[in-house]
Amino acid sequence: MKIAVLYGGISGEREVSLASGKGILQALKQKGHDVVGIDFNPEKLDEIINLQVDLVFIGLHGKYGEDGRIQGLLDMLKIPYVGSGVLASALAMDKAKAKKIFEMNHIPVANSNVYRLTKKQEIKAVVEEIKNTFNLPFVIKPNREGSTLGLSIIQNKDEIEKAVNNAIESDDTVLVEEFIKGKELTVPVLGEIGHEEALPIIEIIPKNAFYDYESKYAPGGSEHIVPAQMDDHLKRQIQEYAVLAHQSLGCETYSRVDFILSENNLPIILEVNTLPGMTPTSLFPDAAKAVDISYEDMIETFVTLSLK
Ligand code: DAL
Ligand code: MG
Repeated sequence: MKIAVLYGGISGEREVSLASGKGILQALKQKGHDVVGIDFNPEKLDEIINLQVDLVFIGLHGKYGEDGRIQGLLDMLKIPYVGSGVLASALAMDKAKAKKIFEMNHIPVANSNVYRLTKKQEIKAVVEEIKNTFNLPFVIKPNREGSTLGLSIIQNKDEIEKAVNNAIESDDTVLVEEFIKGKELTVPVLGEIGHEEALPIIEIIPKNAFYDYESKYAPGGSEHIVPAQMDDHLKRQIQEYAVLAHQSLGCETYSRVDFILSENNLPIILEVNTLPGMTPTSLFPDAAKAVDISYEDMIETFVTLSLK
């Protein structure tokens, strides 16, 4: 099969995507596909059209790659692609909108507010409102971003302004969430529409104070415990929430759903990643490995499911 792999791109997660793309490209080659790798920017669209591929594997992360925009372009060109479509991608990228859907489906979420800052002069008023609304500690992050870019954990209210400025470098909308102390968990979801299943839950133990960019991508930056150790009832509940979250946004083929397990064992959903990392330190491939699915077989499964 002729497959174009798009990677790199122009989002803040470009470096992550270069690493994901490399892995995906090698796996598809090993599976015998005729593969072309494209470091994607909009000028490459003609190249994709001229290649006349059977499928596009989107190895992009973040803005323009994971948020429904490239998916929309490919839909217009009638080129099939791996993973979620326009709406699910856009919803998953917008953490605040996705949280509303999770709540409607009775999946616990952290208390939060969202602030849209279209003008720089609004910052002072927003900082004041955040100061008066949230008890320490809390989290300030861009509403649409990945890999913890632009995220700050606020321990002192003097840090708010800097954190808001940091977050709005990625997005004009800032999400402020109560900080949930607990374990970082993630659950890969895989399968045909309506028949998705959760892979083993992973517990992440970051070397840094929290699971930040360095803990995510530096070799040895975090330890992954697969399967996470907990009782079967809780395990089933978290896996059910993960599949429900994936389905409630209308995701397709695969995603990875992030949670914090609070100190009183309540799983709080953080977000759904429609194009989760496929790098050597990434989580989805680790969960697949735990159920004897090699990296190459995992990528091939995404391809097969996308063509159904
Ligand atoms: N946003 C990164 C790629 C992830 O969720 O794995
Ligand atoms: Mg993410």
